[in-house]
Amino acid sequence: MWFSQTYWLNYKNLKPVRISWHKGLNVVVGPNASGKTNTLEALSMLCGWGQVQRGKLRDLVNWDSPGQARLYSQFNGEENISVVVSIQDKRTISVAGKQCSASTLRLHVPCLSFWSDDVRLIEGSPAIRRNFLNHLCATIVPLYARRLYDYRKLLRHKNYILRAGRYDDAVIKAMAPVAAWLWSYRRSIVDLLKVGLKEVSSHLVEFDFEVDIEEGNKDYYEDPLEAFYKSLAFFKKEEIARKVSLVGPHRDDLRITVKGRPAFQALSRGQRRKLAVAFMMASAKVVEYKLKRSPIILLDEVTAELDREGKEQLIKALFESNWQVITATADEQLGYIEDFPAKVWHICRGGLSA
Ligand SMILES: Nc1ncnc2c1ncn2[C@@H]1O[C@H](COP(=O)(O)OP(=O)(O)O)[C@@H](O)[C@H]1O
Ligand SMILES: [Mg+2]
Repeated sequence: MWFSQTYWLNYKNLKPVRISWHKGLNVVVGPNASGKTNTLEALSMLCGWGQVQRGKLRDLVNWDSPGQARLYSQFNGEENISVVVSIQDKRTISVAGKQCSASTLRLHVPCLSFWSDDVRLIEGSPAIRRNFLNHLCATIVPLYARRLYDYRKLLRHKNYILRAGRYDDAVIKAMAPVAAWLWSYRRSIVDLLKVGLKEVSSHLVEFDFEVDIEEGNKDYYEDPLEAFYKSLAFFKKEEIARKVSLVGPHRDDLRITVKGRPAFQALSRGQRRKLAVAFMMASAKVVEYKLKRSPIILLDEVTAELDREGKEQLIKALFESNWQVITATADEQLGYIEDFPAKVWHICRGGLSA
């Protein structure tokens, strides 16, 4: 899928302009605080995602306008659809004139975004990588989000009981099939992700790395249900002693290593950024394979910390992906790369122009 035309009204500092996006690579260049991230955020909301920074929906409406913010888009590709998102104290979405949920919209227009601090995927805590995986799985099957929600509810209950100094087998029995389902779904997606990483990283990263999911600090058994029960038995004493749940999908890590060392130790900042982008591109491959639709890629400040060669490599990889890519940067130099294979947009005080 791809954005063919967009229009917005009262969205943060963005001026109302009609934009006809290029089907391939688009680069939005502008100084700090001109509205680059806001532009990508508006596009991401048009694909059914939420705001980038946690906050009230109201904060998305232009400060000087009392009314709503409205986003419009015409998408083309596997399907031609129009989408309208209205935002005030709540968000409503309509697809082809009919009200629609965000998760359904996300299936119509799969979109993967990379925000400037997503490099934390490589250097941050396991929770960030779990979130990344959860996000990817939920993009492909909305049922995943529901199961994860059920699991977290049961987990809160289990932790509550552990804090009270008890151990409840009934909660465990309810949790086990949900945990096993999440584990096996995640594993199938990680296997696809590894294939995607092999394909994209040959153009992007010049070092070898390993990726694996580590479930609940415990060996993975062939049967995830059995694995869950065995891991629980192994940790039971410790859980009771520490009064907290120590095993399950909420404790996993997607381990990324280079020569046996954690990637954040072994790589420079620029290398970590390239690797994080490779992860995003590989996820896009997984989404495309599973949903049979071309995803849209949004990248914010992705060339930061890369040298000239790194930038050229990245732009080439994005160009060759055959997906619509919209990337924002404060880096004026980017527009001067020879034979630049992209449509360049300039943004100044919220006004976007070709
Ligand atoms: N609700 C709003 N109404 C008007 N302006 C806003 C609103 N929210 C944020 N802004 C402005 O948007 C600008 C930031 O835009 P952003 O897209 O983050 O810039 P950058 O180009 O650096 O990515 C800031 O100047 C901020 O004041
Ligand atoms: Mg920004």
